[in-house]
This record gives sequence, C-alpha cells and structure tokens, in this order.
Amino acid sequence: MTQVKVRLDTVMETALVTLYGKAIDARMTPSILGDEMAVQAIEKIDYDFSRLKAMNRRVAPYAAARSKHFDDWTSEFLARHERATVVHLGAGLDPRVWRVNPGPGVSWYDVDYPEVIDVRGKLFPARSNYRMIASSVTSPDWLTQVPTEAPTLIVAEGLTMYLHPEQGHELFSRIVDRFQHGVIAFDGHNWLGIRIVNIMLQRAFGTPLLHWAINDQYEVERAEPRLHCIDALSALSAPSAAALPWSTRMFTRLIQPLRPLRDLGLYFRYQFSSARTAHPGGE
Ligand SMILES: C[S@@+](CC[C@H](N)C(=O)[O-])C[C@H]1O[C@@H](n2cnc3c(N)ncnc32)[C@H](O)[C@@H]1O
Repeated sequence: MTQVKVRLDTVMETALVTLYGKAIDARMTPSILGDEMAVQAIEKIDYDFSRLKAMNRRVAPYAAARSKHFDDWTSEFLARHERATVVHLGAGLDPRVWRVNPGPGVSWYDVDYPEVIDVRGKLFPARSNYRMIASSVTSPDWLTQVPTEAPTLIVAEGLTMYLHPEQGHELFSRIVDRFQHGVIAFDGHNWLGIRIVNIMLQRAFGTPLLHWAINDQYEVERAEPRLHCIDALSALSAPSAAALPWSTRMFTRLIQPLRPLRDLGLYFRYQFSSARTAHPGGE
C-alpha cells in the first residue's frame, strides 16, 4: 500500500493529533467513538505517530468525548431538519461525516487549509452530497461555495482557540451575514485552558499555538449580537463526559465551585436568524 505523505505546519499537524486520539480510542475497551475509519486512516499515513507524546491512552478518551459531544449535537440538528446544510470548519482529518452518516437531504462541507484538504482527499473515499473546501476559515472564499437557503449547522471543534479573537468575531459575523438561519456549535478554552494547552503545545511542537480564550458565552454575544446562546456547558459536565474514567468524574465534582478549573474546556451552541427572513425560533 502506498503511504500518504504529510507535510503540514504545526497548526495543521494538530489534525493528526486528534485523528490519532480517535484511533487510540477505537482500540480501547470500551471505546467512546468506535471510529474504525480513524484507525484505517492512520495506517495509511507516512508519519511517526510515536512523536505525538501528548496523545496517549490517558488523553485519548477526552478527545473522543469531545468529538462524541459534537457528533451528538450534529445528529440532534439533523433529526430536526431532514433538509439541511452542515459546514464543518477546521474539519482536519476527522471522519465525522461517516460517523454521523447524514441522510440524502443533507449537504455536508468540510473546510480546512488546502494542505490538510489535500491529505483528507487521499485518506477518505468520496461520498454523495459531500464536498471538501480548501480555504482558511478566516478568508471569505469558503462562504460563497456553500448554499444558504437550508437550515445550516456550522460545527467547529478544536478550531476557535487557533484564531485570534478578532478573526473569530469576524468569522461569526460573516456566517450570520451569509446564512439565513441555523446554529453555530463550537468549543473553546477559558484563559487558564489556553495557558495550560499552550504549555503542552510548547513541549510537543516547540511553540504555543493558541490565541483566543473564551471565558463565557457573553463574549461572543457582545461581539455579534445576532447570535443567541442556547447552550454553554463545561466539557467536564457535558453528557459525553459520563464515558470518562471515574477519577475524572470525581475531579469534576470537586472542582464545580472553582470556575477557572470547571471551565477549562467549554462547549457552546448559538442560534442565528437573519433579520431578512426573521425565521421563528432561529432555525
Ligand atoms: C486540533 S485540529 C481539529 C481537527 C478536527 N476538528 C478534529 O476535531 O479532529 C485543528 C484544525 O483546525 C484547522 N485550522 C486552524 N486554523 C484554521 C484556519 N484559519 N482555517 C482553516 N483551518 C484551520 C487546522 O488545520 C486543523 O485541521
């Protein structure tokens, strides 16, 4: 089998870290995601995964639980909208579209840097109603390639922290300007989470990569008042965290009153509806 060569810079290389996490999780019993496509993908890549010391059997369940959470929010949206558009921003090498396996009324778009999309195209098969868009999410280019009429879910897992705050705010405003109605679902780290993960990234990649700390849901609403928060929850107390080891669940109980620790990782969901359509309920 010809191996897929990867030449990615450090931000793009993080897509290999989360893919590797899913592959490790798939080999654990019990597995949270059971993502066999992730296992097959890493077998095809010419890359020394053993250098990704930050991803191991201890950390992989956290990465898998985060993906499970965004899979569940995606499935929930699609259960309500048979005809819908899903845009997965910063999709990296995540096989989410195969895990969620949307119905025929759904158009799905995965967006990432051209170098990452090039690797994606070599790892995964084509499927109907599925397209990849090679673009930075900070460029307006990708928006013009996605239809705007159907209810739209924008899902961005493991992306916002790599943006600068002003880039993130601009991205959200462009989404609300362009799409008529839908939901944006993403995760973020508070200021302490950004510091801790940057220390880990400094060790792993020799440089801190994270810029944007989101400490609460109001920051995004202040920057883009057309977004209305419908969910803001600590990653440690989200339903998918029930699959984490009991020691984590004990820790979560202990730190409930300590907000900086409780909110190291946060999951957000906002709805939007353009004034032009004034769609009831925002979706
Ligand atoms: C930690 S990985 C997460 C990948 C995937 N969402 C997952 O959970 O497996 C971060 C991803 O964001 C992408 N990314 C970061 N900044 C980006 C930007 N400005 N435009 C497009 N993609 C970006 C990286 O290339 C990488 O694939």
